[in-house]
Amino acid sequence: MHRKTIVAANWKMNGDVSLINEMTDALNTISISENQQVIICPPAPYLGALTQANTNARVAVGAQNINEQLKGALTGEVSALMLKDLSVQYVIVGHSERRSLFAETSGLVADKAKQALAQGLTPIVCIGESEDEREQGQTEQVLSEQLAPVLSALDNDELTDVVFAYEPVWAIGTGKTASAEMAQQTHRFIREFIAATDSDAADKVAILYGGSVNAGNYQELFAQPDIDGGLIGGASLKVEEFKTICLAE
Ligand code: 13P
Repeated sequence: MHRKTIVAANWKMNGDVSLINEMTDALNTISISENQQVIICPPAPYLGALTQANTNARVAVGAQNINEQLKGALTGEVSALMLKDLSVQYVIVGHSERRSLFAETSGLVADKAKQALAQGLTPIVCIGESEDEREQGQTEQVLSEQLAPVLSALDNDELTDVVFAYEPVWAIGTGKTASAEMAQQTHRFIREFIAATDSDAADKVAILYGGSVNAGNYQELFAQPDIDGGLIGGASLKVEEFKTICLAE
C-alpha cells in the first residue's frame, strides 16, 4: 500500500507574523507532489493569518490542540468548531508536552480525537514513551495503553481518517533521534496494534515519526516502510530547512 508522505510542522509556542509570512512565501513557490501533504501547525492566534497567507493547495493548516467540548464557559480554550470555521484541516492531539505539562490522559486524547473527526478535522494523535520507559522495556506496553482508548472511541470508518505520530519523548528537542531501524520497529508495532482492531485501516493510516527530525536525517527515517513522514518541531521553524524536508517523496 502506497501511503502519502506527510510532513507536519509543530511550531509549539514559537513563531510570529514574520515567520508566517516567510514560511508561506517559501512554500507557495514550491511544487509539492500529490503523494505529499505538508501541514503547518502554528500557535492558535496565527491560524487565521496562516490560512489567509497560504496559497499552496498541498499545504494544509493545523492547530496544536483543541478542547473536547464544542463551546461554552471555558476561558482560553479553542474548539474544533472554531477551527473548522477558519478552514483549519488538522489538529494535533495528545502531544507529549500536553500529556506531561497539562496532565492530559489518553482518555481525554481519545475524546479530543473523536470531537475533531466529528467536525471533519483530521486529528494527529501523538503517542510515545519516555526514556525510562524504553530503558525498562515498557515501550510497547506504554504505546498500547496510549492507543487503546483512541481505538475503542472511534468507529472503523473514522479510524482511517486519523494520522498517528510516534514521538519518543527522549528524542523531542534533544537532538537524539531514534535510529531508523528502531523507529521502524516501533512503527511496525503500532501498525500491527491498530491492525488488531481494523487491518484495513492499519494499512491506510499514516504514522509519522517525530523527535529531532532535521534535513540531515529525514530521508533515512522516511524511507522506512512503516514511517509515512514526520512531525517536526525545531527544524520546522527554519524556513530553508523545512522547505527541504517538504520535498521528501
Ligand atoms: P523536535 O523536532 O524539536 O524534536 O520536536 C518534535 C516534536 O515534538 C514535534 O511535535
